[in-house]
Amino acid sequence: MKEFTLKTLAENNGKNGKPTYIAHEGKVYDVSESKLWKSGTHMKRHKAGNDLTTDIQAAPHQTDVLEKYPQIGILKNEEDTQMPMPEFLSRLLKRFPMLRRHPHPMTVHFPIVFMFSVTVFTILFLMTGIHSFETTAFHCLGAGMLFSVVAIATGWYTWWLNYQATPLKAVTIKKKVSIIMLATATIAFIVRAAVPDILYPFSGTSFFYLIPVLSLFPFVTVIGWYGASLTFPIEKE
Ligand code: HEM
Ligand code: HEM
Repeated sequence: MKEFTLKTLAENNGKNGKPTYIAHEGKVYDVSESKLWKSGTHMKRHKAGNDLTTDIQAAPHQTDVLEKYPQIGILKNEEDTQMPMPEFLSRLLKRFPMLRRHPHPMTVHFPIVFMFSVTVFTILFLMTGIHSFETTAFHCLGAGMLFSVVAIATGWYTWWLNYQATPLKAVTIKKKVSIIMLATATIAFIVRAAVPDILYPFSGTSFFYLIPVLSLFPFVTVIGWYGASLTFPIEKE
């Protein structure tokens, strides 16, 4: 039986007339004949040419669907094909496979919602003059800042572990915008902590806080959009 590495498996991704191979628990299957794997994509998210052992756990079906298709090869041991990693991490990932892909999607919602709230509560304050809206915006800013650090850390981790730190355009944009967003939030936080009444009465100095604060929502939207484009690629065909 043919032996594959993750690299040679990736060449059979079902695109441009190439065969459609998928791997599960060390076995490589040829699903080229399946209508549900047309052009190498399954259910608009799973891509052929990959080891999908973890992904299939989230599927509404069991692994017996794979038996409909011929096994044409084996995937060489993880240790041989994957990047070197500290022993403790390798053991931890074997014991808890969900730690492979879940940490980033699990943590990204926090900075998204907090950064969004900063903008919404600041606008509400400007419209109504109610001070508690402004205080809420400030608290959300602090939380958004802290959770951005967590999301950046898990983002870097998932990129290193699952994308072999490949310099993809979407990741490069995410990295840059994340750092800019964190720096902007930190500056705004320091300014607001130093001058608590910076927004009232409204004056020219207020813009030193208002502009950074209002830019957080567009920043987090760009970061989230490019993230989702990696997880749920937009189909071009
Ligand atoms: C959230 C993820 C997934 C969803 C929603 C999904 C959904 C489906 C559905 C609705 C079917 C057709 C009904 C059936 O045969 O039970 C199917 C078939 C199949 N799925 Fe998935 N699936 C997912 C993930 C996966 C993964 C990760 C693999 C590979 C490891 C996989 C391999 C297959 C295969 C081989 C078939 C049979 C195709 C055929 O009959 O031609 N699925 N899937
Ligand atoms: C505050 C910062 C960040 C936010 C809000 C964010 C947001 C997101 C979102 C919403 C997704 C889609 C997840 C899903 O629904 O499955 C995602 C995926 C992703 N992000 Fe981020 N991200 C951040 C920082 C980063 C950084 C700094 C990196 C890389 C160095 C990164 C790398 C990735 C990768 C590789 C994916 C695809 C994950 C996968 O397919 O499992 N992210 N991000």
